[in-house]
Amino acid sequence: MTSAATASTSSRLPDRRTAVVTGAGGPAGIGRVTAQVLAESGWAVALVDINADGLSAVEAELRGAGHEDLLAVTADIASESSVNEAFDRIDGALPPVVGLVNLAGIACPTPLHECDLKEFERVMAVNVTGSFLMLRAAAARMIPQGVGRIVNTSSITAFDGGGTFSKGVYATAKAAVIGMCRGGARELGPFGITVNVLAPGPIDTEIMGGRLTDERKASMSEGIPLGRVGQPEEIAATVAFLLSDGGGYLNGSTIQIDGGKHMH
Ligand SMILES: NC(=O)c1ccc[n+]([C@@H]2O[C@H](COP(=O)([O-])OP(=O)(O)OC[C@H]3O[C@@H](n4cnc5c(N)ncnc54)[C@H](O)[C@@H]3O)[C@@H](O)[C@H]2O)c1
Repeated sequence: MTSAATASTSSRLPDRRTAVVTGAGGPAGIGRVTAQVLAESGWAVALVDINADGLSAVEAELRGAGHEDLLAVTADIASESSVNEAFDRIDGALPPVVGLVNLAGIACPTPLHECDLKEFERVMAVNVTGSFLMLRAAAARMIPQGVGRIVNTSSITAFDGGGTFSKGVYATAKAAVIGMCRGGARELGPFGITVNVLAPGPIDTEIMGGRLTDERKASMSEGIPLGRVGQPEEIAATVAFLLSDGGGYLNGSTIQIDGGKHMH
């Protein structure tokens, strides 16, 4: 069994390193921009998404921008076999996995009392089980290296019990992701691996049922001191910091990126 790290100094990130980014195949998603920013920061990037066409488009875009150390893997993060196959392919094609950014997720506008079990279980499967399966597979690769960075994605909906689009089912799943982050931070910290979780407010993507109209953006901006929804680039920049050497002492944090809507 691998023993936990006892170093008194930080574990530096290796020069040759791979970040696995799930949810990278959304045409207007946070994952697409995050993959781009990490590639620009010197990471080899494994792009993972259930949407094969979207993934191909993002891969072509990144290759067109000159990024060579890439692998696009179509996978369902809610499936154990799919996750294991994805990591086998990544292990065979790219440098060691040191980063995991779990952005794949699905929203759910159905209130708890109207949700059938199948829908409830799918929301949990993608947002919670998927984050767990990816964390477990990534941690198995990071532990022998004594260094790793894991970023999962919750939502301010987890604090509010629901938002303008998603309701209590999604809030349940995203609250679980915060618990997973804290457990992971405790359990993997001794191995030099940090686990943090993002809690974005409304971001201008297609997860809420298509591109946001200006009218919808305006109504979603109510109560936000900055008076606007966020952009995927503003999430990607935070991820890039968490996956930098300078981000090495942040662990177990829930990072709200919501224009100041929640202050506590
Ligand atoms: N956009 C927002 O307002 C907002 C706010 C808070 C949190 N979030 C969270 O941020 C993350 C990214 O969301 P986004 O806004 O970029 O959404 P998006 O819909 O653009 O991207 C999500 C991606 O996840 C992929 N995906 C869905 N199920 C999958 C599965 N089983 N396996 C692999 N991939 C799967 C989708 O194909 C899609 O490309 C999500 O976890 C979301 O819950 C988003």
